[in-house]
Amino acid sequence: APAVARDWGLIGFAGIPVSDADEIRVPAGYSFKVIQRWGDPVSAEGPAFAADASQTWAEQARQMGMHHDGMHFFPLPHGANRSDHGLLVVNHEYIDQQLLHPDGTGTWTPDKVRKDLAAHGVSVTELRRVGQDWVVQASPFARRLTGDTPMRMSGPATGAEALRTAADPDGLTVLGTLNNCAHGVTPWGTYLACEENFQTYFVNTSDAVPPLQERYGILTQSFYRWEEHDERFDAAAHPNEPNRFGWVVEFDPYDPESVPVKRTALGRFRHESATASLAPDNRCAFYMGDDARFEYIYKFVTNQPYDPDSRDANRDLLDDGVLYVARFEPDGSGRWIALAHGQNGLTAENGFADQAAVLINARGAGDLVGATKMDRPEWTAVHPVTKDVYVTLTNNTRRGGEGQPGADAANPRNDNAFGHILRWREAGNDPTATAFAWEVFLLCGDPANPDVNRRGTIDGDHFAAPDGLWFDGRGLLWIQTDISAGSLLRDHHRPFGNNAMLAADPNTGAVRRFLTGPRGCEITGVIMTPDQRTLFINVQHPGEGGTSPANPTELSAWPDGPEGGRPRSATVVIWKADGGLIGT
Ligand code: FEO
Ligand code: CA
Ligand code: CA
Ligand code: CA
Repeated sequence: APAVARDWGLIGFAGIPVSDADEIRVPAGYSFKVIQRWGDPVSAEGPAFAADASQTWAEQARQMGMHHDGMHFFPLPHGANRSDHGLLVVNHEYIDQQLLHPDGTGTWTPDKVRKDLAAHGVSVTELRRVGQDWVVQASPFARRLTGDTPMRMSGPATGAEALRTAADPDGLTVLGTLNNCAHGVTPWGTYLACEENFQTYFVNTSDAVPPLQERYGILTQSFYRWEEHDERFDAAAHPNEPNRFGWVVEFDPYDPESVPVKRTALGRFRHESATASLAPDNRCAFYMGDDARFEYIYKFVTNQPYDPDSRDANRDLLDDGVLYVARFEPDGSGRWIALAHGQNGLTAENGFADQAAVLINARGAGDLVGATKMDRPEWTAVHPVTKDVYVTLTNNTRRGGEGQPGADAANPRNDNAFGHILRWREAGNDPTATAFAWEVFLLCGDPANPDVNRRGTIDGDHFAAPDGLWFDGRGLLWIQTDISAGSLLRDHHRPFGNNAMLAADPNTGAVRRFLTGPRGCEITGVIMTPDQRTLFINVQHPGEGGTSPANPTELSAWPDGPEGGRPRSATVVIWKADGGLIGT
């Protein structure tokens, strides 16, 4: 093909080819280092990883958890704009029991359940740049939130009947946060760990499954077997325990003693990210996806403005506001429908006794008001200048299937194996608006594919199954992919290679591949230091699809090599060898 001069806009690096190698690859001129792998101590003096995974649950509770996901860099001290010293807060989405325990699930004990719980949650590490090296410190800020850390319930659903359990008869305190996939950051410098696939930890094997458990997909056959040694995960005996998960959890990384808070005002669903956008009047909007097939996109808007002069004044801003759900019309308009008790049919006659009922069953409320059923909404990202909002719809092969909704304007492909990205602009560019204009940003896949459901609109390097999504300070859109191990075996995903990270210019639509990951991983979690000269990303579950206690490195030995014992999720720090801005 003839060489055509292209306008790559904000993108200054040469895109790299797809890869099936068991390593990280980045463009020429970039360097990287692997840090804080699963099992590394969160504070430098903590217990070291054992290559045979023989660390105890108590040691695991002082080490990085498994399956790194969303993350954020908080400069130290708070309010400083430093780019050489800060706290890195990392979600741990879930675990691989075959890798977490020396013999996998060959035996099953209470301590193994404790270790499973300890490998979930969130890690806080203190990092310092030394030259071009980044080093995890011994730190008073270092912290683990796990599946057993006490957390406070707050907001309108606090104390509701449906949140009360035998262990917590007042519905005020929950143990743990689970399945923290993506995340959010508030303008006042706290972290939001979002709870995604919480339903997989509970099981109800009785014939009586309450409608709420059914709507949220609580398992009827055990997957993790936690209920065998920790009965709160038995959803038949403790039907309200699952209602205490599926929330957004706020905590202050600058205060290692702070009690995390489950903010019920933001609704209960399989939360992916909660991305903030500040309105002209300083009220805050948070955009959130419910990552399941045919689920919804939500927005929460605080009633009170953020006070930039007082951290304390913002302490409970997330307890008071309006939760909305999105409806996308075929003509490119859209509106936010308030999920407020007494409005839009959300009344006692229709099964919503009060606002607590609306929030605990946000999905049911979305059903009632006619929200648009989406192709698995993952991360949301807000453009730093225009405040346009982008969302990844990762895939939905059931679209158009028997008895399922067919393609619509916002989810335009049946059997959507590759996913797409939408964007919208709020009326008046105001994040608090209740009307917006939307369009498809791109459809994933090769534009030359003869199959109309596989044909993409990407201008540049191809990708599929977009998940992580983030705007850097220059307005470059970073996209991370999560083609699952099962799909990778299918021929039509093979051309995309290992999961990757790409950059898109929102003005030109140009896309270039920036990073390719090792085998069996997904790439997820992305943040830069304020000076945009250091980039952090996470490699999640290298080796997925091939791991077994007998031969844990059969598919991937990343990052430690075959002698390392087993593949490990980890954070990768990336910089430009010339010290320049990432992406230029
Ligand atoms: Fe955990 Fe929706 O990705
Ligand atoms: Ca994700
Ligand atoms: Ca995903
Ligand atoms: Ca994954």
